[in-house]
Amino acid sequence: MSKITGSKKATQFTESVIREMTRLNEMYGGVNLSQGFPDFPAPAAVKEAACAAINADVNQYAVTWGARPLREAVAREFSRRYGVPIVADEQVTVCCGSTEAMMSTMLAIIDPGDEVVIFEPFYENYGPDAILSGATTRYVTLREPHWSFDPDELAAAFNDKTKAIIINTPNNPTGKVFTREELETIAALCRKWDVIAISDEIYEHIIYDGLRHTPIATIDGMADRTVTINGLSKTYSVTGWRVGWTISPPSLTGAIRKVHDFLTVGAAAPLQEAGAVALGLPEDYYIKLAENYRQRRDVLLDVLERHHFTVYKPDGAYYIMTDITVFGFADDVEFARYLVKDVGVAAVPGSSFYQNAEKGRTKLRFCFCKKDETLAEADVRLARLVPAAVR
Ligand SMILES: Cc1ncc(COP(=O)(O)O)c(C=O)c1O
Repeated sequence: MSKITGSKKATQFTESVIREMTRLNEMYGGVNLSQGFPDFPAPAAVKEAACAAINADVNQYAVTWGARPLREAVAREFSRRYGVPIVADEQVTVCCGSTEAMMSTMLAIIDPGDEVVIFEPFYENYGPDAILSGATTRYVTLREPHWSFDPDELAAAFNDKTKAIIINTPNNPTGKVFTREELETIAALCRKWDVIAISDEIYEHIIYDGLRHTPIATIDGMADRTVTINGLSKTYSVTGWRVGWTISPPSLTGAIRKVHDFLTVGAAAPLQEAGAVALGLPEDYYIKLAENYRQRRDVLLDVLERHHFTVYKPDGAYYIMTDITVFGFADDVEFARYLVKDVGVAAVPGSSFYQNAEKGRTKLRFCFCKKDETLAEADVRLARLVPAAVR
């Protein structure tokens, strides 16, 4: 048999469905409510800082684990907001986006056969991350309408082989914000089974209706066993800059930095300088960010409800999960293709967020990190949709 083939690992996962939807959308000239990137400008001060860094010839490799001003800013802001002291030199590693931060963390802590607990529906990278790092996955389902988990089901997913659990709050795709009580349940299991929490908090500042973000690292006994992952992408509307980071207990930092160094060497040096400026924006910036997204959320909720979707109102992040049963299609992928081709709106089939695709067959995810005009155009196009009972 020919050896000119992909690896076994690479055959175990498929191409990103989200990026495929974006491509189809370009082909059919649709309104792209699939991939979660803003179509509006980034803050001027942050862009100016990037230009200034390039003009000042910050053009060579930064220190592999991250330029000092950005690492210091990450440590300072986490300590200030959440009261957990962070030492930049021992705990912060800057990566190429939180995507690489997650991959480097998984590769740094997982041995083949180690088990990792993942909530589903999940951000689609976690599955391939687990496969590439050799982890055995155990999925625990978040159930609509509130995307809550059954504590017994979660407890049953832990055992002696469990090495880590991945948490994502505020959550993509559901918009769930884990409550302190839920995080305490998870934390108790992490302490009981000596497990690392990997917490993807990339939507930290995109949270609504007076709710507060709670990092699991702030729960008793968790700072020493939590890797917090975050980045510039969502908070500053710069998903293409590829700057993210880990905050890890000192005992794990060395392993993460070694993997990161050999995977990517480092993130773009001038954009790290701009990142330090971004993290220093006044509190008002974050308040307006959340308020602007709250308004967009309410606009898209109204659009989707008027066009017959069942919606699950998100408490954070910038996505709305919907139920599409009323349209009577065979499955979510067929409906998503119809939607982009014949209606002109791209969204993401629910099955791509589940290990067991069947659980997502009646679901579709829309994102609302888009200009008012974009959402208004989606409204016009979605008016073509009719429920199956009326057709
Ligand atoms: C939950 C979650 N984590 C990570 C990412 C990727 O972030 P980054 O651009 O920092 O790699 C996304 C992007 O959509 C996301 O939704």
